[in-house]
Parts: sequence; structure tokens; C-alpha cells
Amino acid sequence: MAVAKTQPGGRTAADPPSIELRRVRKSFGDFTAVAGVDLTVGQGEFLTLLGPSGCGKTTTLRMIGGFELPSSGEVLIEGAQMGNLPPYRRPVNTVFQNYALFPHLSVGKNVAYGLEMSGVPRGDRERRVREALDLVRLPNVENRRPSELSGGQQQRVALARALVNHPSVLLLDEPLGALDLKLRKAMQLELKHLNREVGATFVYVTHDQEEALTMSDRIAVMNEGRILQLGAPEEIYERPRSRFVADFIGQTNFIECDVLGPDGRFVACRTAGGETIRAIPAVEAPAGGTITVAVRPEKVSLDAEAPGGLSANWNRLTGTLTEVIYLGTHTQLVVALPGEGQIVVHRQNRMLGETEPSTGQQLTVAFDPASATVLAE
Ligand SMILES: Nc1ncnc2c1ncn2[C@@H]1O[C@H](COP(=O)(O)OP(=O)(O)OP(=O)(O)O)[C@@H](O)[C@H]1O
Ligand SMILES: [Mg+2]
Repeated sequence: MAVAKTQPGGRTAADPPSIELRRVRKSFGDFTAVAGVDLTVGQGEFLTLLGPSGCGKTTTLRMIGGFELPSSGEVLIEGAQMGNLPPYRRPVNTVFQNYALFPHLSVGKNVAYGLEMSGVPRGDRERRVREALDLVRLPNVENRRPSELSGGQQQRVALARALVNHPSVLLLDEPLGALDLKLRKAMQLELKHLNREVGATFVYVTHDQEEALTMSDRIAVMNEGRILQLGAPEEIYERPRSRFVADFIGQTNFIECDVLGPDGRFVACRTAGGETIRAIPAVEAPAGGTITVAVRPEKVSLDAEAPGGLSANWNRLTGTLTEVIYLGTHTQLVVALPGEGQIVVHRQNRMLGETEPSTGQQLTVAFDPASATVLAE
């Protein structure tokens, strides 16, 4: 007999996932906005849909929320088929980019709106509004008008309004877009804490990779209506599978080289300059031909500074230093490689007054083969 395992929060392993999308497609006329998405989101998870403008993030979110119906495929929430249920019949609340508070109503009335519509008695309503405003750290503003609050505070009122009826799923579509950078960063952390505190599943849409890395349990990187890669932030950043993902998130060096063959857990290949390097294959080792190796600039050191004994088997590339740019936290060096490639190196500025090598000189850079990835495509 199968015994359900109890998990934190009293849930059992037999509980259905919070959200499930099965081969979900959406076309507008003959344009396909979402081209067959399969996605399972766990209870209480913070999942981010990340991708460039027009890749289908909002459309995917709207299909979960019921604002848009799939052309084909299925949406399940808490194990139940959503079919063509309208938004207000789904256990879901949505926060949009333009948070659309009612300007003529007080903050308290704005937050209470949904409760009032569903006939929650007044006493309960007031208590829950206070709780929701406390949750977003905005006590004592019930009687103000939205116009008497800052942008960030209004955003938090919109969140309180979405949280007040305890949805099991919260959908957030670029909710921080209108805020300045400092406030955005503060709100990012608050949202993450809120996710832990209320235990609801958060599906968050952004085209900002840093935001996605900061907040998410997992990130789904989308392009042209498809999910290209789904994984924890570290996984997406450290082991991108495709050139698109490696390029979209952070800065990456791409090195073209000809496969020599497998070498333990690595693939060995030869660069245009005739140097042999090794890298981890993202999927399975390609048998031959030309491949692309990706390595992040902060993983590359100047050979002279590479960590002692550890670096004996590191990849080494020699070229000409063409650019030195001071960027505050780090300095960016660009080394032109024989052939047409180049490699960008980020050197942390740990000490004041470090001398940088000068442009025009020959330089050897080194990186651990374990931090280099052979891209699948
Ligand atoms: N109602 C609609 N009718 C026709 N085309 C639409 C409609 N809604 C969205 N699209 C198209 O579908 C594609 C995906 O749109 P979507 O809004 O999902 O993109 P997005 O990833 O959210 O982009 P952004 O980051 O700019 O918000 C776009 O090319 C868009 O023009
Ligand atoms: Mg959008």
C-alpha cells in the first residue's frame, strides 16, 4: 500500500502540483504566441517566466489566470481541469504591471474590494484587510487615497489586494516595472519573503534576468512561445544548454572549436588558434564537427593569477589584450584570440590601486574546464 509522505505545511507527496500546463498552445489568427508549453509548478514554488519581449510570457500567464483560453492543451490548478472557467472562478489572483487601484477609493476599500464582492461580513473584512496590509508592511494607511502613496507603496497595496482572499496561486506580470531601481530591488526581496510567508505559489513574469535570478526557485527561459530551459537559477546560469539561454542571462564568451573527442567527463576540442581546450557537454558529447563552448567572464583568470596547483589542467588561451574597461566592482579585459574570436575576462577589483596589464600585450588566460559548457545548439 502506498503511504503518502507528509511534507512541510501538512501537504503530502500525493498532493497534485499547484499548476500544470500540458501542451498548451495559443494562436491569434495564424500567429502562434505560445507554441506548446509543458510546465509543472510545485506547491508554494516561486517560478519565473523569463524571456525577451513578445516571447509569450504574458499570454502564458493569462491562460493560467483564465483571461485567455488556450487554442489547445490543458491547464490544471490544484489537480483540477480549468477548462473555460473564468478568472474569478479560479483559485488565482493576478497583479499586473499597471496595478490599477481605484483612485476614488481609500486604500482600505481598494484592498477590501474582492472580499466585499464575495460577501465577506464587515468585521472579517476589516481584520483581513489589516492583515494583508501588515503582510506587505503598510500598516496604518487604510484611510489614505492611492494618490497619497509612493509608487512602491501603491504597488504593495495592489499586492495586498491580491493576497487578501488567500489565493493558492498568485500571478505577477512585471509588477515592479514602474518602480525605480532601488525600490525594485527592495520589493524583489520582499516578494520572495512574502512567498515564503504566505505559502502561495507565485508565477512571476519578467524580462529582467537579474530579477529572475534574485527571486526564483526555478526559472523557465522562454523564446518564441517555447520554454527553452527550466531550472534553478544556478543551473540556468552555470549550465545554459543553448546559445540563446547563455546569451540572454548574463554575459558569456562563446568559443568555436573542432571536436577531438571525449576526455573523461569532458569533451576536448581544438580552437582556431590551435589550442586544445576541454568543456562539460550540456547534453551528450558530440561525436565530431564544430561546437560552441560557453564560459562566463568571471570564471576566466589571467594565467599568472590562476589559483596555484589547482590550475594545472585548466584550459589556456593566448591572445592580444585589446581593451581594459574599469567597471567599479570589476575590470573588463578583452583578449583577441588568433582567428576571429575574443575572450572577455572579469577581474574583481578587490584591492585599490591594482595595476592592470596594458593593451597590445600578449596575454594568456586560464579557466577550469568544469566551468566551461559545450552548448547543445
Ligand atoms: N490579443 C492578441 N492578439 C494578437 N496577438 C497577440 C495578442 N496578445 C498577444 N499577442 C502577440 O503574442 C506574442 C506574445 O505576446 P505576450 O504579451 O505574451 O509577450 P510577452 O512575452 O509578455 O512580451 P513583453 O515582455 O513585451 O510583455 C506577441 O507577439 C504579441 O504581439
Ligand atoms: Mg508581457
